[in-house]
Amino acid sequence: MKNLLRTKSIADIVRDSESHPDGHSAGGMKRTLTVVDLTAFGIAAIIGAGIFSTIGAAAFNGGPGVVFLFIFTAIACGFSAYCYAEFASQIPVSGSAYTYAYASLGEFLAWIIGWDLLMEYAIGNIAVAISWSDYFTSLLAGYGIHFPLHFSMDYLTASRGHAAVLELLNQGVALTDVVAKGLSASQVEAYQAFEHAPRILGIPMIADLPALAVTVLVTWVVYIGIQESKRVSNLMVLLKLMVLVLVIGLGALYVKPENWHPFMPNGVGGVLKGVSGVFFAYIGFDAISTTAEECKNPQRDLPRAMIYSLVICTVLYILVALVLTGMVPYTKLGVGDPLAFVFGPEGAGVNWISGVIALSAVVALFTVLLVFQLGQPRIWMAMSRDGLLPPIFSAMHPKHKTPWFSTILTGFVVGIPCLFMNLTEVTDLTSIGTLAAFLLVSIGVLKLDPHRPKEPGKFRIPYVNAKWIFPAVTLVTLAIVHWSAPGAIDEFFASFGQGFEVYKHKIPLVAYLLGMVWLLVGTFRKNLSLVPVLGTATTGYLMTELGWVNWVRFGGWLVLGLVVYFFYGYANSNLGKAKKA
Ligand code: ALA
Repeated sequence: MKNLLRTKSIADIVRDSESHPDGHSAGGMKRTLTVVDLTAFGIAAIIGAGIFSTIGAAAFNGGPGVVFLFIFTAIACGFSAYCYAEFASQIPVSGSAYTYAYASLGEFLAWIIGWDLLMEYAIGNIAVAISWSDYFTSLLAGYGIHFPLHFSMDYLTASRGHAAVLELLNQGVALTDVVAKGLSASQVEAYQAFEHAPRILGIPMIADLPALAVTVLVTWVVYIGIQESKRVSNLMVLLKLMVLVLVIGLGALYVKPENWHPFMPNGVGGVLKGVSGVFFAYIGFDAISTTAEECKNPQRDLPRAMIYSLVICTVLYILVALVLTGMVPYTKLGVGDPLAFVFGPEGAGVNWISGVIALSAVVALFTVLLVFQLGQPRIWMAMSRDGLLPPIFSAMHPKHKTPWFSTILTGFVVGIPCLFMNLTEVTDLTSIGTLAAFLLVSIGVLKLDPHRPKEPGKFRIPYVNAKWIFPAVTLVTLAIVHWSAPGAIDEFFASFGQGFEVYKHKIPLVAYLLGMVWLLVGTFRKNLSLVPVLGTATTGYLMTELGWVNWVRFGGWLVLGLVVYFFYGYANSNLGKAKKA
């Protein structure tokens, strides 16, 4: 048990990665990134499939009130950003939350976070690659080039759509009538993809080839080096920001305020259905920390860049959400390309801009892919340096100075599943995995002494004693829940009398509430610092909204991680070996 809690001291972590006099870090990486590059990296990672795609479903369920979710999620991410910033300034090495946990929570939880970050980076990129493929094929369609449906869709979507349409066909409904019977146009497309796909041994060959192609391209850019990645990223971010500003500015002219009434047509429950999609939109500011060993001044610039990129994106997101829900009735927003849609024939009717948006989405999603594809190998590199993964994971390319093996492996881990995996499920998994990492980073900061001596040039979260403020915030929150969702508390208690199939959905919330009691007591007794306390409370809450199925999958993923740890990492950890020697 003691071994599982073994920590690596901050001094050792920093020493292991300290700069060589030639301007390279100990791992051999080039230090070239400035605060502007890092902020651009943050924006590159944040603005992507979330704002271009998943916002549609969130607005469809929540109505204009989805703006509240964007604000709440931004606040939760803001607390986490502060916690990441404190760690990143303290421990400016590539491993991000994994390394922070190693210093504060011990090896075992560090491994869990490292394993969990795979869900954020690699699995998240599967979602982005799938989304990129959707936009790319519709952009081509705008130019009259029709990519075969069966080679731009995943097998699961195709087979589910096929089954749904087939059921109606078997009831005697004509194919032309299935949409009128409640199916969506995309289900009909899925049916056609399944029907027309070439077959080998009777099995339809269905795969998302553009998603694979873009993954290969991004992997190559990341493989050849950080300098090249930086140039590509900065340029694309500028273009992406300009287009979003254009959408907001132009869209504002077409807002009809009556579309904002009622503001929360489906109540708080409707708004909360969008948690996964909205949170997904914010993921990415933390990815900056993985480039710590390539920054000129990581202690000063990493915290700043995280906060800057988060603030810029939050402002843009809130404006986009207001403009979208103001331009068309929220009921029309359940589409995969909502930004283009609101300017199309069913919205403002400014059709030329739809093409501009499709093009910018292709660019925006490419930059997200780039940053995450860059981040994953650097986390593996840090884990390998600690002995938790084999040494080849941290092997440097002699010429490009990049972790070549981990980079190529990331390409496979993203490129193969994106051929056949389904977007919604991958988004949900990414969100739950990332929230878990944010939660653990906030808890990790709680373990740091907020009164330790200040070191010049290092970022520190301002200490505010949460002793009374946190209980007060908790009471106000309960009052708001009671007022805004009357009956929710009664419904919560009633669910326990209705059998496992009903109350299993409440298990995450029960676990959270127990955790909150523990946090309240701890805060009161130990005068904990307010920001990490609120970070723990808010990210923990968002996790409870992600549904039972995701919790089960997440649990399965963690169990697999434990097996790998006990078979390899535990025995090979440098800390363990040092102890034996
Ligand atoms: N925030 C990133 C996106 O929305 C992951 O694509």
